[in-house]
Amino acid sequence: MYDLAKTESAVEQKDTKISARNVQVYYGDSHAIKDVDVDIEDKTVTAFIGPSGCGKSTFLRCLNRMNDTIDICRVKGDILLDGEDIYDPKVDPVQLRAKVGMVFQKPNPFPKSIYDNIAYGPRIHGLAKNKADLDEIVEKSLRRGAIWEEVKDRLDAPGTGLSGGQQQRLCIARAVATEPEVLLMDEPCSALDPIATAQVEELIDELRQNYSVVIVTHSMQQAARVSQKTAFFHLGNLVEYGETGQIFTNPVDPRTESYITGRIG
Ligand SMILES: Nc1ncnc2c1ncn2[C@@H]1O[C@H](COP(=O)(O)OP(=O)(O)O)[C@@H](O)[C@H]1O
Ligand SMILES: [Mg+2]
Repeated sequence: MYDLAKTESAVEQKDTKISARNVQVYYGDSHAIKDVDVDIEDKTVTAFIGPSGCGKSTFLRCLNRMNDTIDICRVKGDILLDGEDIYDPKVDPVQLRAKVGMVFQKPNPFPKSIYDNIAYGPRIHGLAKNKADLDEIVEKSLRRGAIWEEVKDRLDAPGTGLSGGQQQRLCIARAVATEPEVLLMDEPCSALDPIATAQVEELIDELRQNYSVVIVTHSMQQAARVSQKTAFFHLGNLVEYGETGQIFTNPVDPRTESYITGRIG
């Protein structure tokens, strides 16, 4: 029923990149994430699945402190990146988000040229010494985003003029330009057609050579195709977390089984 081709390599044990313990998230009085513990592995694609409103995006946003930007949102518990508390007052959220990059549901290129979309982050983080350096970062990032060949002759054209699938790959290239260690993706293919989706999925599979990738998806087929680990959320709880192959073929919790088999959604 599910294509689990990319899950075999998961048998190998990877290092923990992000460790979350007793995480609670509140929007005002509403308790949106309840006591979540999870270890996200390095060089692995981890899928967050579960019914709409179960807290996937909320939990994802905890991992690079994007919830800080929502006034009524409070996050409690511990989230460590390589053993360091990302909520420590000494941590600059802007620096953190360069390390833990994010790609959103709707491609959101800046109203700038293709070149400047990529160069923006490296410029503000001082990653390039000169123009030649910056050119190199731009090319490398666009190559990693699997879009270089399509845009190399029009780097001065606006990013917003690209097709939806190209815009999303541009946004992925922009996210990798600051040399992140973790890439968070919140339903990155939901605005894309099947061809662009396949291109982005292929890219996600390549990215896991270098990064820890966490992808929220409402498509179980997509989770099965691209991830090695899967976390199933339900009503703010992390119900089950494990090897993608196991979650999809032999779930332990009856709530996971109901969701996988389409009885709850
Ligand atoms: N900015 C917000 N303000 C108030 N409540 C929110 C906000 N964002 C999400 N929520 C609530 O938190 C819960 C989880 O939402 P969300 O994380 O978006 O779920 P999912 O991504 O799984 O669909 C839902 O009940 C939702 O209504
Ligand atoms: Mg969501």
